[in-house]
Amino acid sequence: MNQFENGVAVVTGGASGLGKAIAEEAARRGMRVVIADVEAGAMDGVVGDLRARGTVAIGVQTDVTDAASVEALADRVTHDFGPVNLLFNNAGVASGGPIWESTEKDWQWLFDVNVHGVANGVRTFVPIMLKAAAGDSSYQGCIVNTASMAGLVTAPGMGIYAVSKHAVIALSECLYHDLQLVGEQVCTSVLCPSYVNTNINQSFRNRPPGLANEGGPTKAQLATQAISSRDLANGALTPDEIAAITFAGIEAGRFYIYPTPELMPIVKSRLDHIAEGSNPDIPYNDIPMFKERRDRLRAALVE
Ligand SMILES: NC(=O)c1ccc[n+]([C@@H]2O[C@H](COP(=O)([O-])OP(=O)(O)OC[C@H]3O[C@@H](n4cnc5c(N)ncnc54)[C@H](O)[C@@H]3O)[C@@H](O)[C@H]2O)c1
Repeated sequence: MNQFENGVAVVTGGASGLGKAIAEEAARRGMRVVIADVEAGAMDGVVGDLRARGTVAIGVQTDVTDAASVEALADRVTHDFGPVNLLFNNAGVASGGPIWESTEKDWQWLFDVNVHGVANGVRTFVPIMLKAAAGDSSYQGCIVNTASMAGLVTAPGMGIYAVSKHAVIALSECLYHDLQLVGEQVCTSVLCPSYVNTNINQSFRNRPPGLANEGGPTKAQLATQAISSRDLANGALTPDEIAAITFAGIEAGRFYIYPTPELMPIVKSRLDHIAEGSNPDIPYNDIPMFKERRDRLRAALVE
């Protein structure tokens, strides 16, 4: 996809962090922007800022876990702007710690947002995009799913988050293959950032009360959170830089968008172990920051 000017971009989770930066980059490229987020106050703030800079923007309060809410979003976008060109299935939440300590409610919440949220976007918007392509040979569309490096590697304490992001990679690859069968006007990409300084460590702010845990976090979960906060704060790239890399990737027709390609040897090593049938490596054990992560988690577990 190489035409953005006057196109329509929908960004789920666009009220904060990466989604906000992606929405701002879409605006810089002359697109009309729809912010779809569950957090109304933050969403209105982003829409206000975009409009103040002259962008045509609306906010549609959306819960990506709810198929009817995503369908209502699509109806509103189609009514106000016509067919969407860029759909960013970006809303996501995180939790970590040893996998056996995660509750049934943790699993449900993470999978509802990170996996079903993307599936709801794909199921709702792709038929609209394909219809637009069939009716207009100049139409271009792209679905960009935000996965993570956590969708390509596994490590101690990454738990449900890594499992859910592996599902997003697989979902995106399946979508890629399926779209290849029906033409070239609608494409897809999967974005795999490493640590970025956003509000993801406060994901619990949007956790539905019905899925709240009864007890507080365990020692190991608290240790994981503390290490994650530090690693997020030390992220190599800003959300704005990742948004610019994402658009460059879409423009170049890249499916896998890797903002930190220097980490790919870790992925290669993991895939080698899978192909050889040798037991999983401890990823990034040579990188001090990550070795410390493992050591602190181990200490919290045996204390
Ligand atoms: N920050 C990182 O280090 C990092 C790294 C890799 C991937 N990611 C992914 O990037 C995406 C964006 O996360 P972020 O880091 O910007 O976090 P963030 O918390 O700053 O932003 C996430 C946004 O998603 C929204 N959201 C949460 N639940 C929702 C729901 N049910 N429906 C609609 N919106 C909902 C939140 O309100 C928030 O605005 C996520 O998919 C995340 O997993 C983040």
